[in-house]
Amino acid sequence: MSVSIFERAQTSARYLREQIKREIDVAVVLGSGLGAFAEKLEEKLIIPYEQIPDFARSTVEGHSGRLVVGTLPGTALTIAVMQGRFHYYEGYSLEEVTLPLRTFGALNVKRLVLTNAAGGVNTAYRAGDLMLITDHINLMMISPLRGQHDDRLGARFPDMTEVYSRAYRQFALESAAELGIKLHEGVYMSLQGPNYETPAEVRMLRLLGADAVGMSTVPEAIVARQMGMQTLGISLITNAAAGVEEGEINHAEVMEMGQRVSGQFGQLLSKIIARM
Ligand code: HPA
Repeated sequence: MSVSIFERAQTSARYLREQIKREIDVAVVLGSGLGAFAEKLEEKLIIPYEQIPDFARSTVEGHSGRLVVGTLPGTALTIAVMQGRFHYYEGYSLEEVTLPLRTFGALNVKRLVLTNAAGGVNTAYRAGDLMLITDHINLMMISPLRGQHDDRLGARFPDMTEVYSRAYRQFALESAAELGIKLHEGVYMSLQGPNYETPAEVRMLRLLGADAVGMSTVPEAIVARQMGMQTLGISLITNAAAGVEEGEINHAEVMEMGQRVSGQFGQLLSKIIARM
């Protein structure tokens, strides 16, 4: 019989517990180009994914594939930051994609921040803007919870009314206002990728209620919800989605925008997490 996800997460968690030797207060997943936030942490411990038993390896450029654990300056909070995540388009099953989240669950982490790079579907959005995720639409059309049910992971039919914590959203809006950072509120739509969308698809996504489009986050948010975590989601709009403006979209541009706003992004994230 194959090893269950629950047991695999326990194995990864056991290893991490030995390495980290303290409780993780908040877990953070960093999207494309946003890796710099991890550099802010103090008393850092860096664990490459390949050292963690049962973790897959990150294959995407700009996702370095390591867990950085440290203290957030000015707080007593221990933060575990995923610099690089696993995507469905890399060929992993959604069980592999979400195993790190299951591992955080096994480590009893209850507070989660998911970030990503996304295309702006809402025509009012500009490249470089930040969007607070109020809700999502799963146009990947597959759930990470599909398959044999294991009660130890959570409910078979988990509620999705408030995937992105209302309280955390309030913290985010207050923090952005204090810093003078513009923060949109919108719906994130996930597609499988890895190709970007066509202009016709982007028009369809807008009709369906998307403000931003990307290739990650939703499976992680669903798993986190099932495990009873509170989640904050923030998208960096790295580009106007296809057809919204002239010109083509490329990964280098997506990465570059992440680096350009990383200072501001890190400031905002630090302020929000300090309130969580
Ligand atoms: N579409 C999908 N995913 C993305 C985009 C986009 O335009 N930009 C960054 N990630």
